[in-house]
Amino acid sequence: MAVSSVSLHTSPRPDSVYAAVGGHETFAALVDAFYASAVEDAPFIAMYPEGTEIEGAKWRLCAFLEQYFGGPTTYSEQRGHPRLRMRHMPFAVTPEARDRWLHHMRGALDSIELPPMYDELMWDYFQRAAAAMINQPGEGRPQPSPLI
Ligand code: HEM
Repeated sequence: MAVSSVSLHTSPRPDSVYAAVGGHETFAALVDAFYASAVEDAPFIAMYPEGTEIEGAKWRLCAFLEQYFGGPTTYSEQRGHPRLRMRHMPFAVTPEARDRWLHHMRGALDSIELPPMYDELMWDYFQRAAAAMINQPGEGRPQPSPLI
């Protein structure tokens, strides 16, 4: 049976986390809740180049997460390989920024009330991914002495 490679790559896998948690509606609700909370956090949202004009940022985060969790691959079709760590290099991602990001994402996950297994799976991923994005030491960390 001939299966077009396009449909292979773009159709959500039926056994994906994406499908299991409710597809696009769920990811859109998660990302809406994340940004609704983030825009209220003035020092945090100040690092976003488009500030509180977050429609573009919302699309990018939503499309990325849908793809990561086995949904449509629209993110890479439009943005190329995610290379998330590299794409975060222009921003000062300190441990404090990670904590704020995770705070907003924890609240967003709570708001969509996933079954515990999926909540834990996604939260575990977010914690690991956010830690991997850190590219600057925090305020509280001692700097090496210039003498040694
Ligand atoms: C650790 C704290 C984090 C901070 C402070 C942070 C901050 C930012 C900022 C300022 C942007 C640019 C906004 C824009 O797209 O216009 C961005 C983009 C993005 N972030 Fe994060 N981020 C963090 C963690 C994460 C994590 C954990 C993920 C995924 C699980 C993620 C996924 C993305 C994606 C997909 C984009 C858009 C990349 C692109 O296509 O250009 N971020 N982030």
